[in-house]
Amino acid sequence: MSLLSALSIVCGLMLQLFFSVLSAQYCVPRKTVSYQSNLKLFKENGFFNYSTMLIREDLGVLLLGAREAIYALDINNISVQKDRVRWQVTEEKQRECKYKGKHAEVECRNYIRTLHSVNDTTFYVCGTNAFSPACDYMTFANGRLTLRERPEEGKGKCPFDPFQRYSSLMVGNDLYSATSINFLGSEPVILRSSSLALRTEFKSSWLSEPNFVYMDFMGESVDSPDGDDDKVYLFFSENAMEYDFYRKVAVSRVARVCKGDMGGQRTLQRKWTSFLKARLDCSFPEPSLPPIVQDVFLLRHKDWRKSVFYAVFTPQSSLSQISAVCAYTVSAIRDIFNVGKFKTSVAVETSHVKWVMYTGEVPVPRPGACINNVARKMGMNRSLDLPDKTLQFIRDRPLMDEAVHPLTGGPLLLKKGSLLTRIVVDSVLALDGETYNVMFIGTENGYIQKAVNFDGEMFIIEQIQVYENPVAIRSLSLSSSKGQIYVGSQSGAVQLPVSDCSRHQSCEDCILSRDPYCAWDSSAERCCSVRGLSADSQSVVQSLKDGDVSECPSPDPVEAVHLDLVPGNNIQLPCQPHSNLAKVHWRFSGLQLQTNDKYYVYSGGLLILNTSVSDAGSYVCDSVEQINSRMYNKTMVVYHLQLFSEPPLPVSPSPGTTVTKYSIQGYTVAATEPGLDGGNEVPPQSENYSNTGKLSRLEVAVALLSLLCLSLIGVMLWFCKRGQWKCFSFVHSSKRAEGKRPANDYVEVQNRNSEIKLLQAEAGRPCTANNNHTAEDFKGNGAYHFQPSARLEKLAGLGLIHDESEI
Ligand SMILES: *[C@@H]1O[C@H](CO)[C@@H](O)[C@H](O)[C@H]1NC(C)=O
Ligand SMILES: *[C@@H]1O[C@H](CO)[C@@H](O)[C@H](O)[C@H]1NC(C)=O
Ligand SMILES: *[C@@H]1O[C@H](CO)[C@@H](O)[C@H](O)[C@H]1NC(C)=O
Ligand SMILES: *[C@@H]1O[C@H](CO)[C@@H](O)[C@H](O)[C@H]1NC(C)=O
Ligand SMILES: *[C@@H]1O[C@H](CO)[C@@H](O)[C@H](O)[C@H]1NC(C)=O
Ligand SMILES: *[C@@H]1O[C@H](CO)[C@@H](O)[C@H](O)[C@H]1NC(C)=O
Ligand SMILES: *[C@@H]1O[C@H](CO)[C@@H](O)[C@H](O)[C@H]1NC(C)=O
Repeated sequence: MSLLSALSIVCGLMLQLFFSVLSAQYCVPRKTVSYQSNLKLFKENGFFNYSTMLIREDLGVLLLGAREAIYALDINNISVQKDRVRWQVTEEKQRECKYKGKHAEVECRNYIRTLHSVNDTTFYVCGTNAFSPACDYMTFANGRLTLRERPEEGKGKCPFDPFQRYSSLMVGNDLYSATSINFLGSEPVILRSSSLALRTEFKSSWLSEPNFVYMDFMGESVDSPDGDDDKVYLFFSENAMEYDFYRKVAVSRVARVCKGDMGGQRTLQRKWTSFLKARLDCSFPEPSLPPIVQDVFLLRHKDWRKSVFYAVFTPQSSLSQISAVCAYTVSAIRDIFNVGKFKTSVAVETSHVKWVMYTGEVPVPRPGACINNVARKMGMNRSLDLPDKTLQFIRDRPLMDEAVHPLTGGPLLLKKGSLLTRIVVDSVLALDGETYNVMFIGTENGYIQKAVNFDGEMFIIEQIQVYENPVAIRSLSLSSSKGQIYVGSQSGAVQLPVSDCSRHQSCEDCILSRDPYCAWDSSAERCCSVRGLSADSQSVVQSLKDGDVSECPSPDPVEAVHLDLVPGNNIQLPCQPHSNLAKVHWRFSGLQLQTNDKYYVYSGGLLILNTSVSDAGSYVCDSVEQINSRMYNKTMVVYHLQLFSEPPLPVSPSPGTTVTKYSIQGYTVAATEPGLDGGNEVPPQSENYSNTGKLSRLEVAVALLSLLCLSLIGVMLWFCKRGQWKCFSFVHSSKRAEGKRPANDYVEVQNRNSEIKLLQAEAGRPCTANNNHTAEDFKGNGAYHFQPSARLEKLAGLGLIHDESEI
């Protein structure tokens, strides 16, 4: 191991400190599940951008649109490809596109962006087609995908630019799309392609540089007392017109149109007469510009009024790393559009326009309303019959005065770190008879956050790494009936189950995970899925809101680990908390230990400085987690320190021993130490390992380290200044395997009660070459000893943290 590992110890401490500050305000995932190679993955060599998905449970397929290809994948195992069609750009198109100044290999390709079902076996597909969007029909029958290969104009149905956000929706035979209809991407429209095509006005009061993210359909005509129409809701962000600000400010919007809209007769001919929009409110705890909506999921309810839109927001300033989820009921949005006040523009000074609340008389029928009983009573059966007064009003005032407020008044989830990108929500019926809405949220760095809001308490059950490399999650789909999530990104598609209860090994683990999908079956002694269980199953325990483990059998007592104590040295006792939310507490001779001159308590363990004879005894590490007002306390490890007595010297490292090399200023110092794995609940017993002797070898290495500590910190500061951030990047490494590196090039030098192995001077390695020794070392592996310094606290202020999920 290098200088770097020593540095990483210091950095690790700083991270712990820094992170504990963060966790106070934002939700931290309780557990982190790192990448597992058994996830079902789909990708084809040479193909990228797997970002358009369509689930067809009835056909047993997931249709996946990528760059220049569409796949039909087995819905139960997306690694199984049923068929594929290619849809490449023609050379001519690619040349034209390149000629217009676009990047031939990236932009001048055909990105499949639209995939909709037309009927049982037919689909409508659109692609960007080298900045010349085109659409076509495709069928899936007898396991075969077939493209009709008679492409039609896709302008307005699909974006030109593969990087531009857009949204579309098929309702019956009508395609609703929100995108740009020109090459430059500067003319946004919300278009309905049907026998009677409709679009938005080209006015900045309608759409101002929008970013469309989501569209969905709501069948509001069902048991509607006022004879209302079905609607299409659209979520996007755009330049605000309602704020006076010295620069452009974006805001998030929800807009809607009526399904039966046919446009106006003279005014708003072939344009929406029912386009209304309102600001979406989702307040962040820190003062900031309005957050930007990134994705939406509609959680449908039997009663459509209770359906809820879940929306992910990120800050508009790239400096901030906060994301939020806010939820809005359909009725809240409807209320704003149906009875809310309008905004109107007033001219102030010469060219400046200000938007204020409209207080004048509102014409009847109400502008922007669908054709309903009120209109019908007035003899207006179609939007074509609407009077000019109503239409002119709405043409000039599509914006509502009031914003739509979230269901709970504020965010359901607030998270700091890698930004959230996409969301799906599943409802789960738990054993208590309540339905919980579990959010699955993708991030910029390839994780899925699985979160719940328990009556206002934000809780991230776990974060699951679904890509080996940190890629942004670009699409998420849920099959609730299959209990599967499908994830798309540039590099491939991944399938994962909504829950893996078997990951929780003990009753406490299972209950404390507070996962609505899982419950502890005490007769089978395993954590099992609640699906198909009924509340009266006697032996099954679940406690979601309280995390109450009192029904669990009491855990087996922890076996003590015996260690030697050499007076005058420092010693580190590793102990990992049982979850990211837990804190460690230490007890010694019945006393709670606090950080002071002698002890340094941090989340990965305890340091005892300058030990003396009186330090011998039992040290107990408790991991304590607060769940609401309840404390859960678990003893993770017990160390028994006994005074050192002269040992027989072992000749070579025995199995179960970790060989550690410290490369300090040209020397490599190797020390053997017990292969303690602090990441586990209980350190593994190394039966053949004799504690005596080995530890003290380490301690000599530590003495050296201690001497050099100050210079290390100096070096580190120098690196930090030089911007060598890679030194501090966190990569998982298999420490046990690494420790078993053959040690045949060691020269043994014997010392009084220790053995230091010196190598000839090694050429100084660049710090980036060996950067996989990091906090992992620090957290996981054995008893490092070093001299902590008051400087650590100061260094913590440097904020050396890129991303919490890398930890
Ligand atoms: C498609 O994937 C490639 C390779 O990962 C990437 O370079 C490109 O930017 C992606 N294109 C889009 C539109 O995301
Ligand atoms: C999924 O399909 C792949 C490819 O055929 C196969 O290797 C894998 O074992 C399958 N997984 C499961 C769980 O069936
Ligand atoms: C499905 O739609 C396509 C295109 O509109 C049409 O040609 C085909 O006949 C339809 N098939 C069925 C089974 O309705
Ligand atoms: C509107 O529809 C009603 C019933 O469908 C019909 O009686 C009435 O004549 C229609 N009015 C117009 C103006 O078309
Ligand atoms: C360590 O403790 C002893 C007494 O227990 C004291 O004399 C010595 O100065 C201490 N060393 C350091 C470096 O604090
Ligand atoms: C944890 O439990 C043990 C034994 O029940 C108790 O002695 C200890 O004080 C508890 N620790 C905390 C921090 O509550
Ligand atoms: C411990 O040593 C015994 C005899 O020396 C050997 O048979 C056994 O396999 C060893 N166990 C481990 C875990 O190395």
